[in-house]
Order: sequence, then C-alpha cells, then structure tokens
Amino acid sequence: MADKDRQEHVEENRELWDAMASDWFDRGREAWAREDAHWGIHQIPESEAQLLTSFSGGKVIELGCGTGYVSAWLSRLGGEPTGVDNSLGQLSSARQLQNLFDLHFPLVHANAEELPFADQSFDFAISEYGAAIWCDPDQWIPEAARVLRPGGRLVFLGNSTQLMLSVSDDDGPATTSLNRPLRGMHRMEWDDDPGVEFHLSHGDRIKLLRANGFEIEDLVELYPSTASSNNHYGFVTLEWAQQWPAEEAWLVRKI
Ligand SMILES: C[S@@+](CC[C@H](N)C(=O)[O-])C[C@H]1O[C@@H](n2cnc3c(N)ncnc32)[C@H](O)[C@@H]1O
Repeated sequence: MADKDRQEHVEENRELWDAMASDWFDRGREAWAREDAHWGIHQIPESEAQLLTSFSGGKVIELGCGTGYVSAWLSRLGGEPTGVDNSLGQLSSARQLQNLFDLHFPLVHANAEELPFADQSFDFAISEYGAAIWCDPDQWIPEAARVLRPGGRLVFLGNSTQLMLSVSDDDGPATTSLNRPLRGMHRMEWDDDPGVEFHLSHGDRIKLLRANGFEIEDLVELYPSTASSNNHYGFVTLEWAQQWPAEEAWLVRKI
C-alpha cells in the first residue's frame, strides 16, 4: 500500500473525530464517573463481560483512547496507562476529564498505526472502539505486537462481524438478512456516516493475529441483558443484540 493511501483514512478519521469531539464529552464524563468498567454500545458490566480477567497492572497503552475513560478504569485497577489518540479534540476532552476527576496519565497525539514507542515497552494494550475499528488491522495489529512485551496481552472490542454483515444501508437498524459479503471484508464506509472503519471476518482476523505472534485466549461475544437499554445508537436494537452478538472482544496474548 502506498504511503499516501495509508494516510488517507487516518486523516479523514482525524477530521471526523475533531469535529465530533464535543458531542462525546458528556458520555466520556459519565464513563469516567463509573468505578468499574462498562463496555461498548450496551454498557455491559465487566462482571458479565470478563474482558479484564488477565489484567494485573503494569504499563498499559490504550489505542484510540478518545476521552480516556478506559485508561482511567485501568489506572484505578493499578495500571500505568498511556492514552494514544489521533484527534487533538478528543485528547483535549480527555485532559479536561483528567482535571475534573483529578486522575492524570500521559496522553499522546499519535496514529495507532505508527506508534512513537520503543519495541516491547508495554505489558497490556487495549482498544474499545478505537484502533479496533478505526485503524487498518494490517497496520495497527503489527504495531500493537511490536510495542507489547512477550507475554503481554491485547484486548480489543468493536462491532461484531455478524453485525457488520447485517446493518442496513439505509440508516435503519441491523436486519435479519445478510446485506453484504463476508468474503474480503476489510475497509468499510457508510453512505450516511463519514469516516472509514475496518472490520474483518473471523478467519482473516485469526490469520492476522497469529501472523503477528499472538495466541488467541478468548473471543467474547457480548449479549446485553434486558436491563442494558443504554444504547445511544440507531444501528442495532436490543432485541437483535440479544439474539446475535452485536459486539465482540478479542483477548490475545503475545507469545
Ligand atoms: C469511539 S472513540 C473510542 C474511544 C473511547 N472508548 C470512547 O468511546 O471515547 C474512537 C477514537 O479512536 C480515535 N482514532 C481514530 N483513528 C485513530 C488512529 N489512527 N490512531 C489513534 N486513534 C484513532 C478517534 O480519534 C477517537 O477518539
């Protein structure tokens, strides 16, 4: 891939997130205020999702940290987080929230596909809808592998492959039909939504993770309970998400 093509989606997504940053501030503040982690679009509690069972502190990198609440949770659990984000607007919100909650950790303006950190400098890497969906997996997964020490864990959460096949093209919620091919799934753009996302089939994801020295410890398919109605997004209903996983988390370990 030419450098120019590689940069194009990074710049487009930076502009998008700079423009949207103020809309995400209140959601960020709510998440910062939570003592324990609640994940994704349905705010599934960590007690159910169990994404952090392998976390035991150490140096953490959050890839696409946005308002920084995941790093805040991991700091409260004894980690030493560094939040990385491509958007200065999002990092400015994260800084305001650090001051509001009096909890400070480094925030770095960088592209998660080209991290400004030495090899093997982190014990744990995490992304909740950051690099996990906004970065090219062929770029960010090798970078995550590079900066993790052997034995380090990577946990990332995003929309499930099933959901990406079923969301409709017309702004409505996910349907019960397959609306696009699985084969070749990678870069995705939506008519009604700016920005460039990346989603892979499970087979392609497993090949990529293994090629970069990761062993897969778990693939968690997340289902919300009826109480989890905290969904601000129109692309999936609670009823759909209780039958198919709308979100999935990969828990992998660098060999
Ligand atoms: C939905 S937010 C996820 C962060 C956090 N969990 C939240 O919801 O606030 C997506 C974040 O990914 C960031 N992002 C997009 N592309 C990126 C890239 N190439 N490198 C680093 N961060 C990126 C965006 O700037 C945005 O802050």
